[in-house]
Amino acid sequence: MSKVEWYQEDFWVKVFTSPPDAVDPDENIICTYYIEPRAGINLRDAGIYVAAEESIGTWTRVGTMQDYVLRYAGKVFETIELGVGGIVKIAYPLDLFDLDAGIAHMLSIVAGNLFGVIAVDNIRLLDLELPREYAEIFNGPKFGIEGVRKLVGTDAKPRPHLGTIIKPKVGLTAKDFARVAYEAAIGGVDFIKDDETLTSQKFNTIEDRITHVMAALDKVKSETGRTVIYACDITSDYNRLFEHAETVLEHGGNCIMIDVLCAGYSALRALAEDPSIKVPIHVHRALHAAMTRNPRHGIHMMVIAKLVRLAGGDQLHTGTAVGKMEKPGGPAEALAEWRGVRAIRRINDMLRSPWFHLKTVLPVASGGIHPAIVPDNLEALGSPDVQVNAGGGIHGHPMGSRAGATAMMQAIEAYMNGVTLEEYSKTHKELKIALEYWGYKFKSED
Ligand code: 3PG
Ligand code: 3PG
Ligand code: MG
Repeated sequence: MSKVEWYQEDFWVKVFTSPPDAVDPDENIICTYYIEPRAGINLRDAGIYVAAEESIGTWTRVGTMQDYVLRYAGKVFETIELGVGGIVKIAYPLDLFDLDAGIAHMLSIVAGNLFGVIAVDNIRLLDLELPREYAEIFNGPKFGIEGVRKLVGTDAKPRPHLGTIIKPKVGLTAKDFARVAYEAAIGGVDFIKDDETLTSQKFNTIEDRITHVMAALDKVKSETGRTVIYACDITSDYNRLFEHAETVLEHGGNCIMIDVLCAGYSALRALAEDPSIKVPIHVHRALHAAMTRNPRHGIHMMVIAKLVRLAGGDQLHTGTAVGKMEKPGGPAEALAEWRGVRAIRRINDMLRSPWFHLKTVLPVASGGIHPAIVPDNLEALGSPDVQVNAGGGIHGHPMGSRAGATAMMQAIEAYMNGVTLEEYSKTHKELKIALEYWGYKFKSED
């Protein structure tokens, strides 16, 4: 019995590694992992173990192996030691993938068993680089940032969009829900969404809600000339998804919403690629923190964002620079670009930049935002192609939802005009009251 594990033998090291310049990015799906090897295994060998497990290998050599199978081997082609762990790049040959099986199959390889293999203590999928041949399988977003701006009317003079989430997050009747929506819309929001846990419960079915909300928004249109988008949350198992989408469309709905990680990327893709669904799709990322929060293990939001763009989301929550939710962290300076607000900014910039034929995706910052921290968020997350959402930050305003929406829009205007909030609040009372009421809660320490 050799003194080393089978995958550490010269023959197999050759099978599962490659010089970097021998990796053709047009013929491989390239994954960047952060890996903390198990004690006694070096970084390269841990990478080889992952590449083997996710392509043609398993924990032991098998007598059934054939030479012609070796061409499908994943290949470690770059490693960067970072102390406890390090970066490992693996190229998976495109022929390893069933191109007709889309994201569902791709994930079974690039983010499959590897999270549990014995060769690693921790492993995090940081990024995914796709060949054009793979990306071209997907239609991507129907609207993109440009299409959403045309709907709202901000295409001529782009500015950040203002969104609200109706609060309390669940429990209101459809009538009361629509009343709050009307107030926020008249107050100035561009966009209204269901909270990520409101779908078609008995106390507020989609049929009732879409009827009342669209009547309210029609009223806003006739009174102000403004189109306000309402993202109705149709998250459900496959069996009700299209029925809900149809209900929204039949009642003049202008946007649907899905919790993509709960419903699945294929549900999003099916909706986005259905030509009869001619409305943008707002994508919430509830459940993401199970994968994104731990800086040493799981899946980085960058990967989720790329998959949502491929699958066809038009808007995506990517996190706040200042707010109630945790930021992505990382164990070492060399991972700095994968940490904190820098990581969120890179994700937002990816979503707003050209990527093959795919339309762009509007990044959405949401979670604990109120007027005083709007400038910090816009500055850090990049603008004007961004949407800031506020739930409590609008419906918790002392003067009510209408004034809350106005105060948030005033904070956006102040930022866009390069005026401080203090200055702007001298002539804008809703903003002044919001600043006095919440102060600078959540404002970034640094
Ligand atoms: C959302 O779904 O966007 C959030 O619930 C935001 O709510 P908050 O602004 O009250 O944090
Ligand atoms: C919420 O639903 O409270 C906010 O949208 C937070 O969501 P996030 O996970 O996108 O920050
Ligand atoms: Mg929410």
